[in-house]
Amino acid sequence: MNNSLSNKVILLTGGATGIGRECALAYAREGAAVAVLDRNLEDARKTADEAGHDSFAIQADVSDGPAIEAAIKTLLDKCGKLDAIHNNAGIVGPSRPLHETSEAEWDELQNINLKSVYWTTKFGFEALVASKGTILNTASMVGVIGQQDHAAYVATKGGMIALTKAMAADYGKHGIRVNAICPAIVWTPMLERWADAQSDPNATRRLFDEMSLLGYTPHGDVISDAAVFLLSDQSRFITGCILPVSGGAEIGYKR
Ligand SMILES: NC(=O)c1ccc[n+]([C@@H]2O[C@H](COP(=O)([O-])OP(=O)(O)OC[C@H]3O[C@@H](n4cnc5c(N)ncnc54)[C@H](O)[C@@H]3O)[C@@H](O)[C@H]2O)c1
Repeated sequence: MNNSLSNKVILLTGGATGIGRECALAYAREGAAVAVLDRNLEDARKTADEAGHDSFAIQADVSDGPAIEAAIKTLLDKCGKLDAIHNNAGIVGPSRPLHETSEAEWDELQNINLKSVYWTTKFGFEALVASKGTILNTASMVGVIGQQDHAAYVATKGGMIALTKAMAADYGKHGIRVNAICPAIVWTPMLERWADAQSDPNATRRLFDEMSLLGYTPHGDVISDAAVFLLSDQSRFITGCILPVSGGAEIGYKR
């Protein structure tokens, strides 16, 4: 622990489980108070309690603009400032090419994975200007290189990557840095369930391990280590960065 986020107040969406949970714990270890925003209040509370350090849970759906406005007001009333927003909440399904994706599925993915960044930015912007804060987006390697049978999801992550660059370009003059992390495959409860549901779970797990040049599938700690860096002053001259945390999987795909 380096106290690299000492006294920072961080709004983290999708912080109840998986990658977000790892980030919440890491931010608090580094001295931050974390507002763990999630639609799953029970797990968000567990994570906030485990993180400690004045962290707390907020129940909200990131696709619901008025709910995000209210959540950020609650945070500001409680903490008096906002130093960083980590847009991490996301959903993956459906596993289908575009023409087989329903309009409802398309809209849900866009609203949760991408439009959510619009809401948190719209309602958190003034506070970030005041703190010269930071925005971090959890995108995905599939937004860079594509993926079969996940067109709508891939579109949201590609959009998030483009948005990261556009926001970095607009907000640099306010001293606000905007970056994205791109995981490839990371073990989270969601991925565990998906692998277990495949016809040969062991073969699926082996395939995941082989995708990485480093030969294994990590847990969310590899993402939270990078996220701590991108939210801390150690990355003070880094903005508009799309950082793969992928074990080189994008190179491995060429095999
Ligand atoms: N796990 C991976 O391999 C992987 C790879 C690339 C990118 N990602 C991205 O990482 C992020 C986290 O994924 P994860 O694997 O930890 O998944 P997860 O399902 O374990 O966690 C996602 C969290 O977001 C919350 N959430 C979902 N929809 C929400 C909504 N509408 N409002 C509020 N909260 C909501 C869930 O309740 C959950 O706590 C996602 O954006 C995902 O696309 C994950």
